[in-house]
Amino acid sequence: MTKAPGSREGKSSGRGARDLRVRVKTAKGRKLSSKLWLERQLNDPYVARARREGFRGRAAYKILELDDKYRFLVPGARVVDLGCAPGGWCQVAVQRVNALGEKGGQAVGKVLGVDLQEVDPIAGAEIHQLDFLSEGADDKVKDWLGGPADVVMSDMAAASSGHKGTDHLRIVALVEAAAAFAFDVLEPGGTFVAKVLAGGAETEMQAMLKRNFDKVANVKPPASRSDSSEKFVVATGYRGRQPRDAEQDEL
Ligand SMILES: C[S@@+](CC[C@H](N)C(=O)[O-])C[C@H]1O[C@@H](n2cnc3c(N)ncnc32)[C@H](O)[C@@H]1O
Repeated sequence: MTKAPGSREGKSSGRGARDLRVRVKTAKGRKLSSKLWLERQLNDPYVARARREGFRGRAAYKILELDDKYRFLVPGARVVDLGCAPGGWCQVAVQRVNALGEKGGQAVGKVLGVDLQEVDPIAGAEIHQLDFLSEGADDKVKDWLGGPADVVMSDMAAASSGHKGTDHLRIVALVEAAAAFAFDVLEPGGTFVAKVLAGGAETEMQAMLKRNFDKVANVKPPASRSDSSEKFVVATGYRGRQPRDAEQDEL
């Protein structure tokens, strides 16, 4: 890519100016969807920034931006990261909760990540390969955690099946499983962060979160692509298990 001095990365600078977006030629055997994906990656400032700053993916900036606003990844916090591959959120959490004990005089936190896929090791994080929807998965994670959590965060997303209805049900199942787990392991005052569908968490889920947390916000951080329907629910101030727990257990 040729970059004009002073130009903004990946943006056309207006009328009559050269279009500085990287264009990818359609190579033999490359599908149009791959060409468009590659073009978007090459022109995405967050992708470039992740490479520069040593994060495993642009997703890292979503949790950074959410935490900058809601401040839940504090030194000493115990964090569970559901759907953590390739590891951007874990990298951010390790730094912010001081999981490596590098911030002298500050409490040392813990980061536990799980994913269907294998994840290359991340210093300061404990990572396990696991299908979180499989039988007994929550008990396994509780065992690995060995105590309560301050933050449960989920960026879990199933690979698209190409069928809208099926994809919708899968996303709902993943958020519900993450929320049920959060109700079980969070300390009072704890935080639950999860990727949800456009429009925020489903109505029932939203109501349940509102009963159990002091504040529930539906947020689209700047790093989340505007053409993606993803949003995040950030529920802070967990009130501890409530009388309507039986209902939560059925999530
Ligand atoms: C968008 S990626 C997560 C990116 C991650 N937050 C990061 O910063 O690198 C979604 C992940 O959810 C995982 N996932 C989907 N279904 C899952 C399940 N049932 N159990 C565990 N992980 C799951 C996928 O394997 C995928 O790695």
